[in-house]
Amino acid sequence: MPDAVGPDAQYEVFADEYFDHASDGFYNAHYDRPACLSLLGDVSGCVVLDAACGPGLYAAELDARGARVIGFDQSPRMVDLCRQRVPAGTFRTHDLALPLDWLPDGSVDRVLFALAVEYVDDRTAALRELRRVLRPDGALVMSRQHPTGDWLRHGGNYFHARVIEETWSRGWQVRYWLSPLEQTCEELHHAGFLIERLLEPRPTPQAADIDADRYARLSSEPTGFMTIRAIPDPRLT
Ligand SMILES: C[S@@+](CC[C@H](N)C(=O)[O-])C[C@H]1O[C@@H](n2cnc3c(N)ncnc32)[C@H](O)[C@@H]1O
Repeated sequence: MPDAVGPDAQYEVFADEYFDHASDGFYNAHYDRPACLSLLGDVSGCVVLDAACGPGLYAAELDARGARVIGFDQSPRMVDLCRQRVPAGTFRTHDLALPLDWLPDGSVDRVLFALAVEYVDDRTAALRELRRVLRPDGALVMSRQHPTGDWLRHGGNYFHARVIEETWSRGWQVRYWLSPLEQTCEELHHAGFLIERLLEPRPTPQAADIDADRYARLSSEPTGFMTIRAIPDPRLT
């Protein structure tokens, strides 16, 4: 396995299926989104950058909560879905490997970066760009797969970051980085962020109606996702 995810837009081929799956699915609607939205706080009147926005499920919620949403994704189909779903937002195709040269310094109040950092090869550079476009009093909220769950599934040396390939239950093939928690914290630090909060979410009570076994497991095991809120380090500005 090469030590890079590379530039392929992996989600392009199953963007519509992802939309169906994530709209009201266990992991997205009842586990990841409630945690990220809680750490984003009140976004009314805020400019929110939705980085790797997917099909616009977050963007629609942020728009409904009064935010002005700017979003981007590597997959053009994801961007189409966003535009259909949130006509008031501004969305474009963009790869996190590249600078956000279409956004000025300090131009957004919040950055949301949900469930996508795993696909980025140079995560510190991408995070540094996200910090650059944030206002000094802004905040980044990001979620990622819980590293404990990754390690339990894949084994090997927990501390050794590496790229793996998985086929998910719907046949989606994905290549992404496994990395320890320490590495995510270090990448945030080197990008100029201070970690303010870290959540290990539990599923919402409604998730029990979708899958009682998974609900019980994720209510007691750190094997799903985790969520971080970080602010631009004021000592660096
Ligand atoms: C698991 S989905 C999450 C989508 C959305 N953030 C959500 O939580 O609903 C991962 C998304 O990251 C996007 N992505 C992956 N690598 C990317 C990159 N290098 N630049 C921009 N987007 C990327 C994919 O196209 C996909 O839409």
